[in-house]
Amino acid sequence: MNYPKRVRLVEVGPRDGLQNEAKPVSVEAKVALIDALAAAGHKTVEAGSFVSPKWIPQMADTDRVMAEIERKPGVSYPVLVPNKQGVNGAIEARCGEIAVFTAASEAFCRKNTNCSIDESFERFAPVMEAAQRHGMKVRGYVSTVIACPYDGKVAPEKVADVAERLFRMGCYEVSLGDTIGVGTPLECVAMVEAVAEKMPREKLAAHFHDTYGQSLANIMAVMERGIAVFDTAVAGLGGCPYARGTSGNVGTEDVIYLMNGLGIVHGVDLDAVAQAGRAICTELGREPASKVAQALKAKQAV
Ligand code: HMG
Ligand code: MG
Repeated sequence: MNYPKRVRLVEVGPRDGLQNEAKPVSVEAKVALIDALAAAGHKTVEAGSFVSPKWIPQMADTDRVMAEIERKPGVSYPVLVPNKQGVNGAIEARCGEIAVFTAASEAFCRKNTNCSIDESFERFAPVMEAAQRHGMKVRGYVSTVIACPYDGKVAPEKVADVAERLFRMGCYEVSLGDTIGVGTPLECVAMVEAVAEKMPREKLAAHFHDTYGQSLANIMAVMERGIAVFDTAVAGLGGCPYARGTSGNVGTEDVIYLMNGLGIVHGVDLDAVAQAGRAICTELGREPASKVAQALKAKQAV
């Protein structure tokens, strides 16, 4: 097997996870979660979004969250921004990294951001300029890389086009999102191979939602093709408000357990992440979706 020696995990629970939870979470609980995830060894913890509070009310307090987190040296706390107004919020909050997001399907792009794919790139132009002026790193997301909840199957070539545009525009990394979690390993490999024809594969990350329980298999499959950055959410929290019925991201605990078993270095402490997951799940009044988190919780109860 041709696996990397080391992978980087991008913790997206405080953003992708919490944006889709029905119960509002206090600033204090968000800050405690982000600080705990950084203390567990994560080098990237996505902390929130500067998007319209009418569209995503759960992220409306990102400015206060950014003001109160610890900001551990060597840790990046990216926030999502869709447009100029979003990047202005990120600048005011002294963010060192932002993420822009678009999609490989027109229908999803419109539902998620009220514009076409081309228009999303028009909005990114001033964002990139401001980011450069303020020394902020920019990550890019492509959603619906396997299928769209409105338009069905998405062609790998379309994903490759959009990913290449983000990369050429200046994103240091492009994260490929199976937003609705329907992909299976061969589809994910075909998609990654199409993208890797257009941009360097070492600049790619995989962002799998676990709706159909295929995330770990998909991670194994694309890792064999040289992908070494994976977006994960503590406790498997989350979903996407514009793709109803979808599950959260693959659980951070599940991915850590897998990597530990494979002897692949990632630098994150499993028990510390599981502890952070239990705390936020108590806040939310829900059980973790991650199987490993459930197993550790049951073991602890004994
Ligand atoms: P719009 O309504 O077309 O925007 O929304 P607009 O420019 O016409 O402005 C309308 C109102 O929104 C105005 O306020 C603006 O000030 C305000 P009003 O005058 O009505 O009071 N507004 C903003 N407020 C705060 N921050 C901003 C901002 N921009 C405008 N940045 C917009 C367009 C993009 C803003 C909207 O559609 C939006 O916020 N969408 C966010 C969608 C979102 O966050 N989705 C979830 C994240 S993406 C995701 O989860 C997928 C991912 O995980 C990967 C995967 O799984 O595939 C990344
Ligand atoms: Mg997502």
